[in-house]
Amino acid sequence: KSTLEDTLLAAIRTIPDYPKPGILFRDITTLLGNARAFRRAVDELVHPYAGQKVDKIAGIEARGFILGGAVAHQLSAGFVPIRKKGKLPHETVRVAYSLEYGLDEMEMHKDGVAPGEKVILIDDLIATGGTAEAAVKLLRQIGADIIAACFVIDLPDLGGRAKLEALGVPVHVLIDFE
Ligand code: PRP
Ligand code: HPA
Repeated sequence: KSTLEDTLLAAIRTIPDYPKPGILFRDITTLLGNARAFRRAVDELVHPYAGQKVDKIAGIEARGFILGGAVAHQLSAGFVPIRKKGKLPHETVRVAYSLEYGLDEMEMHKDGVAPGEKVILIDDLIATGGTAEAAVKLLRQIGADIIAACFVIDLPDLGGRAKLEALGVPVHVLIDFE
């Protein structure tokens, strides 16, 4: 029987030089398209929290929506989207964060999480951690109690996991790529 790591590693496609020369892009569309691998990834993301009180899953645009929706359903939790600026229709909280080139901003609805609600943050991948750190700031600004941040993939050389742990957020990752 193949291990979790084998199943997920085999299902993730690596695209060299995307979006820029020198980058090895870890493409999870092949994992999402593989029924067994997708189910396995969602099951593993859910597993530590089964039976715990979780009010909301916060998913980061774009691939965190796909995984987060499935995890929310499985945990009988609500789902709240964290989006690139300008996409959400109601009152938002907003935070700037740094990308490889310059700054961007992301937002969530002010009433997306009630103060004290227990939230799990989900995305497909953590690299530098800038995106996840911004999501943590938004959630804390509105008083969320962040139980954990979960990712299918960590790129440990880029230090994102350590950055979140330094903020006091437990991090749960399924596979590492050097
Ligand atoms: C990717 C990935 C994470 C983020 C990780 O999204 O899905 O959200 O980058 O990088 P970081 O840890 O260095 O911040 P991307 O910014 O490509 O946006 P997209 O999902 O909308 O394509
Ligand atoms: N895949 C998807 N998103 C990313 C990656 C990657 O390899 N690196 C930084 N963000």
